[in-house]
Amino acid sequence: MKALVLSGGKGTRLRPITHTSAKQLVPIANKPILFYGLESLAAAGIKDVGIVVGETHESIKKSVGDGSSFGIRVTYIQQEAPLGLAHAVKISREFLGNDNFVMYLGDNLLKEGIINFVEEFSKSQAAAQILLTPVSNPQQFGVGVLRDGKVVKLIEKPKDPPSNLALVGVYLFTPAIHKMVATLKPSARGELEITDAIQALIDAGLEVRPHLVTGWWKDTGKLEDLLEANRLILSDIVSRTEGTVDAQSRLEGSVIIQKGARIENSTVRGPAIIGERTVIRNSFIGPYSAIYHDVTIEDSELEHSILLEHSKVSQIKRLSDSLIGQNVEIIQTHVKPTSYRFMLGDSSRVEIPK
Ligand code: DAU
Repeated sequence: MKALVLSGGKGTRLRPITHTSAKQLVPIANKPILFYGLESLAAAGIKDVGIVVGETHESIKKSVGDGSSFGIRVTYIQQEAPLGLAHAVKISREFLGNDNFVMYLGDNLLKEGIINFVEEFSKSQAAAQILLTPVSNPQQFGVGVLRDGKVVKLIEKPKDPPSNLALVGVYLFTPAIHKMVATLKPSARGELEITDAIQALIDAGLEVRPHLVTGWWKDTGKLEDLLEANRLILSDIVSRTEGTVDAQSRLEGSVIIQKGARIENSTVRGPAIIGERTVIRNSFIGPYSAIYHDVTIEDSELEHSILLEHSKVSQIKRLSDSLIGQNVEIIQTHVKPTSYRFMLGDSSRVEIPK
């Protein structure tokens, strides 16, 4: 069995972060989202992985390399534009050959991994297997309808959802899918939809098996979902200190201090993770914070936030529910006039309390 990981797309809902980096590389608990998917493919024994890349191909290739650090072999497949999930399958035809494959959306996080999902499929005669989970906002996903334990209908982002079962971004296919993909026409949003290709399998009388997710699942395309995924992953961490914590500092709860990090005269209340070479000085870091590598935080208080590398926060009380990009500075100054001064990238958002 092979795998196809989709790591192209535009990431419009995560701008400005995605102006400079791929949305699949945003770290969740200090590890890029995409790595969680690659690790679960490796854990399921899959070695041959095609990664579909778009505009952000350079940063993806730089972080994942040839895949050997994950125990997989990676082939990169360039997609000229995000023309749809089924388009990604279409351009990967040669790589996929006549093998069965897992299609994994690079911005999806699945707590339970995919071992059971893959095992169940290999024992079945089904043409495809999909993952479903109940959600409160089915309009934002592909939606499935089940009858007698079988999938009878799939609709992409319906205005009037026929059920609350969302399609999770991990699919299992036999080569039967290729024939259906070849006949697709672009949807109303101009994409070749994998949901339509799976519906075509059902219409042709082939079996599409449902599998219900038991653990949590997150599509990390939006800020709130990203912060929640960070919260869920941090909830399970086990404390580890590889950096230094001075005598004036306190670590409370589950806290990971990565190599070379320095905690000086500060409190870190977990669950939280502090990245390599990051310095926390005279500060309070509250629960559900993931501070990435080479960040400086001084005389500040923050919680429930993700900070990317080389950022600096100084004399700020108090930062929460935030995603701060690379090389960002949030600092207090005493320069007159007393006013807010910003240099913000396109599509940034600042919230200031009354
Ligand atoms: O997350 C689950 C949902 O994913 C499903 O419920 C939907 O049925 C499915 O269509 C998909 O919807 P999204 O609108 O969330 O897909 P998105 O455009 O965010 O793309 C998912 C991933 O695939 C993301 O990592 C980008 C990548 N991608 C996307 C497109 C459209 C590509 O690599 N190439 C593409 O052409």
